[in-house]
Amino acid sequence: MSIGGNTSSRVVLVSGGSRGLGAALVDEFLAQGDRVATFSRRSTDRVDAWKSDPRVRDRFHFGEVDATDREGCKKLLGEITEKWGNVQVLVNNAGMAIDALLPILKDDDVDKLIELDLKSVIFLTKRVIRPMLLDNWGRVINISSVVGLRGYRGLSVYGAAKAGLDGFTRALAREVGVRNITVNSVAPGYLRTEMTHGLDENNMNQIVRRTPMGRLGEVEDVSSLVAFLASDKAGFITGQTLVVDGGITS
Ligand SMILES: NC(=O)c1ccc[n+]([C@@H]2O[C@H](COP(=O)([O-])OP(=O)(O)OC[C@H]3O[C@@H](n4cnc5c(N)ncnc54)[C@H](OP(=O)(O)O)[C@@H]3O)[C@@H](O)[C@H]2O)c1
Repeated sequence: MSIGGNTSSRVVLVSGGSRGLGAALVDEFLAQGDRVATFSRRSTDRVDAWKSDPRVRDRFHFGEVDATDREGCKKLLGEITEKWGNVQVLVNNAGMAIDALLPILKDDDVDKLIELDLKSVIFLTKRVIRPMLLDNWGRVINISSVVGLRGYRGLSVYGAAKAGLDGFTRALAREVGVRNITVNSVAPGYLRTEMTHGLDENNMNQIVRRTPMGRLGEVEDVSSLVAFLASDKAGFITGQTLVVDGGITS
C-alpha cells in the first residue's frame, strides 16, 4: 500500500500557514482531502474560517506556536501525532525577511533571521523525520528563495539562511532516500504576499520588467508545485532546489 499520494488522507504539517504562501498550501492540501496541521505565532481570519468550515474543520489543526520555540513545536507535534498519527508530509514554510544593508543590520536581527529561517527548520525536520524513517515513506519540502541562489541587495543574511536551507536539503536527501523519503527545496521568486509589501513601487516595477513572464508570482504558482512534490508521482525527485520565479533568474 502506498502511504503517500494515493491514500485519501495523509497527515500534512505546514509551518506558518496562517497567511501568505502557507495559507495557500493549507488550502491546497485540504482540497486534496488531507489532514492538515499548521501553526504560527498568531491566529488569523483564515485560520478561524478553516476552524469553522464544516467541510474541513475535522481535518484541520492549528497551534499558536513560535517556530523558534523548540518545546512549543515538540508539544504541537505530540498533539498532531496523538490525534492523527505521524506526520507524512512536512512543508517548512514559516520565514521572515529583514531588509537592511549588512553594516546597519542589528546583531539581534542576524540572530532572528538565522534562528527562524534556518535553525527552526533543522530542528522541526529532525523531530518529524524520525517517525518517517520508521514508516518508510515521507516528504519534506523546504521553502527557500531565489535570494539564496542569486542574492539581493539588503537581504544578505536572509540569503545566507536560504542558501543554508538548500544545502541542508541536498545532504538530508542523501541520508533518508533509502527509506523512501524525498527532501526538496522550492525557491520562489517575488510573490505577492505581506512579505513583499515593504518593497517600494520602483523595486516592484523593476522586478516585473525583468521577469520573462511579466508579472509577480502568485502563491498558487508555488503551492501547485509543492503539492506535486508531496505526491507519489514525485517519488524520484529528491535533493533538488526547484525555482518558481517566472524566469527572472534564468
Ligand atoms: N513573498 C515572497 O516574495 C517570497 C519569495 C521567496 C520565498 N519566500 C518564502 O516563502 C515563505 C512564506 O513567505 P510569505 O511571503 O508567505 O510570508 P508572510 O506572508 O510574511 O507569511 C509568513 C507566515 O509565517 C508565519 N511566521 C512568521 N514568523 C514565524 C515564527 N517565528 N513562528 C511561526 N510562524 C511564523 C507567519 O505568521 P505569524 O507572523 O503570525 O507568526 C505567517 O503565517 C517564507 O519562507 C519566505 O522566505 C517568500
